[in-house]
Amino acid sequence: SRRERNIASQVKNRLPQRMIDLLKEAGELADQLGCEAYAVGGFVRDILLGRPNLDLDLVVEGDGIDFAKKFASRVGGRVKAHSKFKTAVVILDDDQRVDVATARLEYYEYPAALPTVELSSIKMDLYRRDFTVNALALRINPGRYGQLVDFFGAERDIRNKTIRVLHSLSFVEDPTRILRAIRFERRFDFQIGGQTMRLIKNALSLKLFSKLSGTRVMHELQLIMNEEDPLSCMLRMQELGIMEAIHPLLKLTQERIQILTELVKVHNWYKLLYLEPKIVPWKLYILGMTAGVKRDQTTQVTKRLHFTPKEEREFLQLRDMIGEALMKLMGWKEGKSKLSRLYSILHPIPVEGILFLMARSRKEYIRRNISQYLARLRSMAVDVNGKDLMDMGIKPGPVFGQILDKLMVAKIDGRVETREDQLKLAKRLNKELSEDPADTTEA
Ligand code: CTP
Repeated sequence: SRRERNIASQVKNRLPQRMIDLLKEAGELADQLGCEAYAVGGFVRDILLGRPNLDLDLVVEGDGIDFAKKFASRVGGRVKAHSKFKTAVVILDDDQRVDVATARLEYYEYPAALPTVELSSIKMDLYRRDFTVNALALRINPGRYGQLVDFFGAERDIRNKTIRVLHSLSFVEDPTRILRAIRFERRFDFQIGGQTMRLIKNALSLKLFSKLSGTRVMHELQLIMNEEDPLSCMLRMQELGIMEAIHPLLKLTQERIQILTELVKVHNWYKLLYLEPKIVPWKLYILGMTAGVKRDQTTQVTKRLHFTPKEEREFLQLRDMIGEALMKLMGWKEGKSKLSRLYSILHPIPVEGILFLMARSRKEYIRRNISQYLARLRSMAVDVNGKDLMDMGIKPGPVFGQILDKLMVAKIDGRVETREDQLKLAKRLNKELSEDPADTTEA
């Protein structure tokens, strides 16, 4: 039988003890149930690459759902089973997830007195996967714990930094694998292999992309935008003509490349400085991908990518807000314009839009002031609340909002630093507003 390299020491060195314990528990359970269990896919690939990955996928040659239930009761967790696919997710008490799939044992009866053979079902399971690097399995049963099952030359491909499909129909079966190939190639700094690249080009010439649903394309785009370096994936997509294949309006022009380059910089800068609110990467990068698309054409793109009505509405709104804000910012002069004016321009805009504005502003002082807005202004709050206003005898109603808004403006412009000053101003504002209730202009 095949020689299998044992990588137990890498497993031990590269994973937290908790994960090792889970692997051993799963392996012991498999032995008890009289079946073989394996860790598979990206989890194994990333051990060899030395990149921590805690998404554990198991394949069991046996009843995966039964295995998952027993595993959950053994280590503490609950099970969500999908009986149709014979898969289950175990959600452990510390929120660690373990996916369990079933590889059914298949017996082939040979005619004419030859013995019945048991085909390795893990091999079948792995053969259905996208790339060799994702088609590795790691034995976890106690007797063979740590042995690497590599039917398709995955170790060699990892050594040679190559993304390679397992068979020539791979992209025809699932064209989203083209985007996955690009994503893995760029993430690991690998190269798509020669034959695999020919298969990609062939699949593209068959226009398989036009048959892909918007939902699936969008899902893959989102995964790309969650990568460390989304731009290099997008450039590779453009090189292969995939952007236009998704939609002609998405061609990556020089202008868009320049905007996306700035967006990546601003996004990385933001991630270093702020934890909250989190950027939704696709909301940011789709702005760059569609820069310059006319308003009435934008829905062609959102329809192609199958945005939900809500996503579409919010996206169009965001683009409108950005356009308006860019105009207003042109008229905002440092030292001359009030800070509260900057606040009122930026405050209605979601953070992805703010970053887009930063990326698009050529004037250094605008960028600096937007940065100031993010650091200080956006989270500023007045030191007076509704209860204080009631205590002053002001009746709750729309006037509350008006007073609090004006207090905010005054605080931002440095006119009322202390709570006392703010209370005093509130009193005065209430008097003015009750004399002229129609006045809702900014202070
Ligand atoms: N897979 C596939 N074809 C697809 C999607 C997934 O063959 N279109 C297989 C791959 O072999 C992959 C496994 O399903 O290893 C799990 O998919 P996923 O979790 O997306 O892959 P990972 O390799 O874990 O990717 P990532 O590192 O981005 O999480």
